[in-house]
This record gives sequence, structure tokens and C-alpha cells, in this order.
Amino acid sequence: MKILMVCLGNICRSPMAEGILSAKAIAAGLDCEIDSAGTESYHVGEAPHKNSILTCKENGIDISHQRARRIQIADFEKYDIIYALATDVYAEIQAIVKDETKMKKVQLLLDEVSPNQKRSVKDPYYGTKVDYEDVFELLGEVCEAIVQKYR
Ligand code: 4NP
Repeated sequence: MKILMVCLGNICRSPMAEGILSAKAIAAGLDCEIDSAGTESYHVGEAPHKNSILTCKENGIDISHQRARRIQIADFEKYDIIYALATDVYAEIQAIVKDETKMKKVQLLLDEVSPNQKRSVKDPYYGTKVDYEDVFELLGEVCEAIVQKYR
């Protein structure tokens, strides 16, 4: 199972989602490959935001090696599931690929815990450390649901 987590900048939310799901998949003995990407290119090549790194580190997960990249068309061949972390991210992916067949792989992440509610993981970029902790907690819940679903 190959899973791609996607947000806007690939520095706040999706790096945490990648780290959390990777840790949970390893702990559950699930054979999968997890990566993350962004729809925008402002932060390409950068490490995750310091609050994303710190919040994960406080929870025993090291994401400091990750580097931001933009989603690319090849990702739609490689990955089995592409999770959009927010509704605006979903719309951005649609605008980038312009292909209904490719969009079949794209799902709103929070549909795994709240189907059809169009919920988004709130962008913590302009927030405080607590906002990153809230994102971590929410991502923990949904990543746990994903691991249970596919194990
Ligand atoms: P992310 O957060 O999508 O969770 O990585 C953001 C990071 C940077 C920007 C927007 C969102 N930005 O506009 O630079």
C-alpha cells in the first residue's frame, strides 16, 4: 500500500501526517510506503515547520529529515491513495491534474473518520504551537483509523 499525504505547503500538516502514519504502520506491522507533498511550491526543499518537528518530537516521532516537495503527475501512477488534508487542497489537486480518472485516487483525509462531512485539517501556519498540537491529535485519530482499516 502506497499512500501520499497532501497539504498546501508540505511543511506543517502533511509532514506530520506522513510521520504519524509511518510510525503507526510500522508499529502495526503494516507493509506500506508513505510520503507527503504540497500543492504549492513556496517551501520546496525546506524541512518541516519548527512547530511540526517539535510537536512530533515530543511524541516520539522524528520528521526532521523530511523535505518539502510539490505533488507531481507521476504521483498519480505511484500511489494507491492520495489523501487531501483539506477541501481547498482537494480543489487544488483537481486544478493541477484536470483528470477524473486520476482524481479517483484522491480522498479527503478526514472522510476516514467523518465520511461526507467535507472536514478539513485546519492550517496551523499562522497559529501557535497549540494549533500544531491540535493537528497532531486529530491526525493521530485518523491515522489510527487508516491503520485499522488496512491491516
Ligand atoms: P501546510 O501549511 O499546508 O500545512 O504546510 C502551510 C504552509 C505554508 C503556507 C500555507 C500553508 N504558505 O502560504 O506559505
